[in-house]
Order: sequence, then C-alpha cells, then structure tokens
Amino acid sequence: MSFEIFTQPWADSFREQVNRNADHRRAASTWEHPVALAVEPSPAVPGGRRLLLDLWRGDCRAAQVVDEAGSERATFILSAPIEQWKQIFCGRSDPILALMQGRVKLLKGGMFALARNATAAKQLVLSATRVPTYFPGEPEPPAVPAANPVAPAAPVSHERASRNSLRSLGPQGLRHDSLPMKLYHQAKRVGGWNPQDIDFATDRADWARLNEREHDVILRLTALFQGGEESVTQDILPLMLTVAREGRLEEEMFLTTFLFEEAKHLEFFRRFVDEVIGGPQAGDLARFQTAPYREIFFEELPGAMGALLTDPSPAAQLRASATYNMVVEGTLAETGYHGYYAMLEKLNLLPGLRHGIGLLKRDESRHIAYGVHLLTRLVAADHSLWPVLESRMGDLLEPALGIIRSLFEPYGDDVPFGLVQDDFMEFAMSQFKGRMHRIERARILTPEEVETEATDEA
Ligand code: FE2
Ligand code: FE2
Repeated sequence: MSFEIFTQPWADSFREQVNRNADHRRAASTWEHPVALAVEPSPAVPGGRRLLLDLWRGDCRAAQVVDEAGSERATFILSAPIEQWKQIFCGRSDPILALMQGRVKLLKGGMFALARNATAAKQLVLSATRVPTYFPGEPEPPAVPAANPVAPAAPVSHERASRNSLRSLGPQGLRHDSLPMKLYHQAKRVGGWNPQDIDFATDRADWARLNEREHDVILRLTALFQGGEESVTQDILPLMLTVAREGRLEEEMFLTTFLFEEAKHLEFFRRFVDEVIGGPQAGDLARFQTAPYREIFFEELPGAMGALLTDPSPAAQLRASATYNMVVEGTLAETGYHGYYAMLEKLNLLPGLRHGIGLLKRDESRHIAYGVHLLTRLVAADHSLWPVLESRMGDLLEPALGIIRSLFEPYGDDVPFGLVQDDFMEFAMSQFKGRMHRIERARILTPEEVETEATDEA
C-alpha cells in the first residue's frame, strides 16, 4: 500500500519509519526542536500542505498534518514546491544542500543549527524513502529508486605500457587558450614566490608580546593549515596520474605547478613554526586535530583521491575533486585563510605570516578555478553525474562545518583577537553555495560549450 505524501496516513507511516531508524536516533540524540515541512501551493496542491514533526532526542513523538497556524508551533519551518520535496524524498537531492542552494526555503529558525545536524536530517529523509509514497497529481505510485541513482561507470584501467603518438607534435600543438594552460602560465608568472624569502623578523617580535591564549589560537590555526597543506601535497598525485592517462596534457602541465605550490605552502607554515614559534610550543602540533578534522584529512580526502588508483571513472574523479577542490580548498582553506588574513591585517600583526598567506591565497584561487573547470567538464559530459556531486558535497558538509566549530570550541565566548565563529560559518557556507551554483550550470551545457566559456573567461 502506498500513501500520498504529506497526508496524515503518510505522516503516520513516516513517524513509524523514523522511530525504527537507529541511525537517526543516534544522530539526532541532542535535537529537541519541532520542525514543520511546508509544500508551497501549486496547481497540483492548491492550498499547499504542512506537516508538523515533534522531534525530541532522536524520537519522532508526533507527525501531524496541520494548518498554517499549527505549523507556527515549530522552531524551524522549511518550505519548498512539491517537485523539490519529491527530489528530496526520493533520495535524489540532499536536504541540507537544497536548503543552502535556496531550493528549500527556511521560513523560520537558524540555518547553522540545521547545517550542524546534517546527518540527522539525512537520516530523517532516509526514513521517508522507506515509506511507500506517491505524489499529488501522479496516477500511479512510483517505485522507490535506489539510494544512488547513478550506476558507476566501468572502471578504466590505469595500465599503459606503450603509446601510439605524442600529442604536442600534432597539428594542434599545445592549446594555450585552454583554461588549464592559462592557469599554468599564470602560475609561472605570479606563483614563483619562495617561502624562504619571507621576512619573519617583525613576526618574532609580535609573537614575544602576545599572551598565552593568543599564542594558542595562532598555533592551532597554523597547525591545522600546515596539516591541511601536507595532506593536499600528498593526495594530489592520483588525480595527476588520471588526467595524464587520459592524455589531457594541458591539465597535467597545470597540475605540475599545483603540486609544487602545495609543497611550498607546507614549507611556508613549517618555517613559521620553526623560526617564529620555536621552542617547546612548536613541539607536537598533532594535539590540535579534532574528530571532524581527522574525518576529512585522514579519511575522506585520502580515500576519495586514492580511489582513483583503482577506479579512475568520471564519477570517481568527480568525488575526488569535490572533496579536494570544493570542500578542502574551496570551503575550508579559503574560509580559514580569508578569516586569518583579515584578522592579521586588522590588528596589523605578524606581517611575514600575513604576506605569505596573501600569496598562498592567490595560488589557491588557481587551484579552485581548475577544480571548478574539472567538475564542470565532467558534469557537462554526463549530466547524470550531478546527483553524485550533490550527494558527495552533502556528505562532507557536516564534518567541514564541524572543523570550523571545533576550532572555536576551546575559547568559549571569549575568542582571542575578536574572532567570530559565525563570520567563518557564513563565509564557508556562501563559498559552498556559490561553487555549487557555478557548477550546476553545467547540467544544461555541452562539453564544447564549457570549453568555449572557459577559454573566454580565463
Ligand atoms: Fe595549498
Ligand atoms: Fe591548493
């Protein structure tokens, strides 16, 4: 038997599924807020519909169809057209991602609180996919689709013992007008800075007059950045191998500058630690790693990049680049460097560190531009890959925001240098949203159109 979505029989069945879902119970163990889900009025649902969920520490205590006044009892009200809810409840669209992209509107409540509970939201949706559901205006109940609607592409072998030709000797030569080649030329022009040339004399004097709590913040941020740079230096190689094997010569040439720059970033932060901090404080910096940091840098990043060694398919490339370029570089590093740089500039502190971060930010913007290009061409070549990207980004959102949250936790309400957690969160989420929006356009483009656009823009 199937139930029409957002009706009382559907709500009863949904509640039953939520309460059976042990993963939801675990993920939502601290959640104590009623949530209302609203369907916008449309020809298929003329008056709209509203569902009030009484969610309490992993339990769904009640699920009721209510009127507008009834939905006001909720702490959070989420509203979307029926088509969008269909995407979500069929497992084709991530709920938090849809919220960030503005496809689901938050009429009441705070965005951060929802984003921090992305796993619980996902489990709630998973519970709904277990309810036999049909949608208003549909004659027949649709079958529940598989969680991942995209079949993985057949693995492409990395084996290549010989070659048939040399690309650059052909009539096309090197494609200097392509985006990767333009980024390669930019990298040679402006990315040639030497971390050893940075003057840390004033930084040493600044460091000596800062207090213990201020030292702690700078050490923590530096340790996280240095660890991040080491990770990206180590993990880029499988992607280089993959594009080289596909004969993408210009991309491979750009990636040689990419790896060189990541190595310099790592060198830069370590030099600051050795030459400015020094002494026992510069001892074991691993103490600053938190659970979400380890999840991203010890598991997700090496996992997604290393997977390319055995599965270099477009879907695997997309998961790798989403993790590396969109989340680690495009959300975490960019947010961290932006916030850190702004703080040092405002307080006129540590000019050597600030100078290096300014140079490094420019390098990172080329890396991210390449990632956007790669993801855009992958999605344009196979539009069915878009849900793979959405799902990957949705999975990484919570640990990524968790890294920012755990960075501020030790300082309570009094964060040294007046750093504000919400500023970082807001910047991270707007980067995340902007990047997804940019790549989403590829869903209606052909690879040739992407190529032309990239050539024009670079
Ligand atoms: Fe870097
Ligand atoms: Fe980078």
